[in-house]
Amino acid sequence: MSLETDLELVGIVAVAENGVIGNDGGMPWHVPEDLAHFKEQTMDHPVIMGRVTYEGILEALGEPLPGRTTVVLTSRELETPDDGSVVVANGLEEALTLAEQAAEERHGGTKRAFVAGGATVYEQFLPAMDRLVVTEIHDNPPGDTRFPEWDRAGRTWEEVSRDERDGFAFLEYVRTT
Ligand SMILES: NC(=O)c1ccc[n+]([C@@H]2O[C@H](COP(=O)([O-])OP(=O)(O)OC[C@H]3O[C@@H](n4cnc5c(N)ncnc54)[C@H](OP(=O)(O)O)[C@@H]3O)[C@@H](O)[C@H]2O)c1
Repeated sequence: MSLETDLELVGIVAVAENGVIGNDGGMPWHVPEDLAHFKEQTMDHPVIMGRVTYEGILEALGEPLPGRTTVVLTSRELETPDDGSVVVANGLEEALTLAEQAAEERHGGTKRAFVAGGATVYEQFLPAMDRLVVTEIHDNPPGDTRFPEWDRAGRTWEEVSRDERDGFAFLEYVRTT
């Protein structure tokens, strides 16, 4: 199945050297600079995520991501706020349609939407992603959720920026093919 959208689809992930991205519904590390980076990158955009990740954010923040539209993928009925800050999609195409609507109606016509995990959602959207914003965590923590295999060292993705910090690095990749 190929996913069609005019939006630039940007995957955003923090991943350890062993591929771990999550443990027990949360993140296995606490890197405040990465949370600030996520906020700065995604602010005022639609952000697509799976139900498990959404529930983890609700638990951590006590509310959905402020200033963004969260598009939650789920097969369940979810209670959402009335203000349109969270919308529910039952499949990938519906998620993209809702992200396009939110981009237009809530985010000033932005042409960019983020895919913010978890593993099941990265995996399904990876073939449609145009760009990947990666925080490399220089550690090998135990975890139950991993980023899917991707052609990082191959021809599909080109590393276009790398910003080394203390214990982690911010990277960006663009799809070349
Ligand atoms: N390090 C990072 O950057 C990062 C980012 C995000 C998440 N995480 C971590 O990753 C873990 C969660 O990832 P996960 O893979 O377990 O769960 P997830 O991808 O967040 O959520 C999985 C759920 O999403 C729904 N879903 C997925 N694809 C769907 C589709 N095509 N149609 C309808 N519903 C769909 C289903 O919900 P229903 O069961 O309700 O149908 C599914 O059970 C957590 O530990 C989290 O902290 C880490």
